[in-house]
Amino acid sequence: RAYPIIAPSILSADFTRLGAEVEAVLEGGAEWIHFDVMDNHYVPNLTIGPLVLQSLRKVTKAFVDVHLMVKPVDGMIEAFAGAGADLISFHPEASEHVDRSLQLIRSKGVKAGLVLNPATPLSVLDYTLDQLDLVLVMSVNPGFGGQAFIPGALDKLKAIRERIDASGRDIRLEIDGGVKVDNIGAIAAAGADTFVAGSAIYGAKDYGATIAAMKREIES
Ligand code: DX5
Ligand code: ZN
Repeated sequence: RAYPIIAPSILSADFTRLGAEVEAVLEGGAEWIHFDVMDNHYVPNLTIGPLVLQSLRKVTKAFVDVHLMVKPVDGMIEAFAGAGADLISFHPEASEHVDRSLQLIRSKGVKAGLVLNPATPLSVLDYTLDQLDLVLVMSVNPGFGGQAFIPGALDKLKAIRERIDASGRDIRLEIDGGVKVDNIGAIAAAGADTFVAGSAIYGAKDYGATIAAMKREIES
């Protein structure tokens, strides 16, 4: 199994001090930064765009995991690749041509991911797996931080873990939504190796202690 990656979602950070908030979780042991992009069209909320990533890029070399919750998708792929994204994932329901969007991401030298909403079937992986670096399983409906983990995501993780292992490919399995210290052990046991957490980390007093506690739960 690939080494675990903790990806704090800056959605729950203090945006008046975003650079320092990113630095703080990296110093606290986080491997990636999860960057949630919402457009008030595909999801009922509005967050941050490529300009913010461009600014962050000037102050950090961190691996930035861009989660696009936008429709249409392709224009934002171009913009975020240009702004310095390391990985871009999108929701297949939001792209008219999923294969084209995946090719577009990879043509920019950026890693590519597909996101499965709680009700999205695994069949979206049937003809896409060989173009993926990551599968992101949503354990909440996308749009907001701080929601409760949907338990059905555990069975979905198990099923996707089997498919990834059977493929023999190097594909990360990421979970996003309601991840906390007290459920991350079960999530890891179900097969996830990459863990997004927003409110659990940025809502804590000590980011580093929370990240360390998460890693202990994952290893145990
Ligand atoms: C939800 C976002 C998540 C969110 C997670 O649409 O994709 O990344 O920030 O926040 P928590 O960890 O608070 O559920
Ligand atoms: Zn996200």
